[in-house]
Amino acid sequence: MLRVRAAASLLVISMLSGCATQHAGTELYEPLIAQSGKDVMWMPTPNHLVSEMLETAQVTSTDVVYDLGSGDGKIPIEAAKRYGARAIGIEFNPDLAALARRHAQQAGVSDRVTFVTGDIFEEDFSNATVVTLYLLTQLNIKLKPRLLDMKPGTRIVSNTFSMGSWEPDAKVLSEGEVSGYFWIVPAKVEGNWILSDLPGWPDAQLKLTQKSQKFDGDLIVGQSLEQRIEGRLSGAQISFNYLDRNGKSQTFTGVVSAHKIHGTIRQIPGSVVIATKK
Ligand SMILES: C[S@@+](CC[C@H](N)C(=O)[O-])C[C@H]1O[C@@H](n2cnc3c(N)ncnc32)[C@H](O)[C@@H]1O
Repeated sequence: MLRVRAAASLLVISMLSGCATQHAGTELYEPLIAQSGKDVMWMPTPNHLVSEMLETAQVTSTDVVYDLGSGDGKIPIEAAKRYGARAIGIEFNPDLAALARRHAQQAGVSDRVTFVTGDIFEEDFSNATVVTLYLLTQLNIKLKPRLLDMKPGTRIVSNTFSMGSWEPDAKVLSEGEVSGYFWIVPAKVEGNWILSDLPGWPDAQLKLTQKSQKFDGDLIVGQSLEQRIEGRLSGAQISFNYLDRNGKSQTFTGVVSAHKIHGTIRQIPGSVVIATKK
């Protein structure tokens, strides 16, 4: 981990400061490694890591993959070529975006890959099912509110850089080292919920506080009986343990959709528990 941190720090310093002169041009345009960019310079993700990032995100042909700051287009092109996904790159530098379009044509995927010349902080990417990033931690953090607002279950994978206090759901391993991070956008569950048909307890409520994919709160039964619970979300899937009226541990699992959670108690086959947001 120390080695990863040291490598990441070196990369931050060089990504912020190492700016080579940029060649403008069209057909003959050849970008320079470490040339300056609007918020971060251009540095291509190594091929093996492109594969590992897309594998970690489990990209399939049904996905819409957005690469934010897409450089020469290698991530969207690979997502389309290897996995059959539809892919979009957003790149501020028009020469890089034009180069990426040429690369997509050469790779025979221009029907599935689009490159938008624009600013990632202004362009819309809300229809993505997978977002790939190779920016900087502070840029990831700036994007975080928009990422957390995306559809629950959207997968995000970042080369090298973290998302600050938003803990990753997994790490990207490359050649035995941690080379990136992976998150699944969690559903929003903070607030009060009424639980119907919780076995043994017809009159139960949940009061939840959420921090990214983790939540905790109180399970309140009747007027006074309450217990602390805590759990985790994986996209729209929620689960937590609680003690039933006999003091036996039970597991609630469910799927969150807007103002309802459709759940079951794992230990009671066939049980149906609906939670409704108050
Ligand atoms: C480190 S490179 C990553 C390129 C590519 N995603 C990859 O992994 O190979 C970052 C890219 O972001 C672009 N960029 C920087 N700020 C941007 C912004 N605000 N909007 C769009 N692109 C930006 C740079 O021009 C550069 O091509």
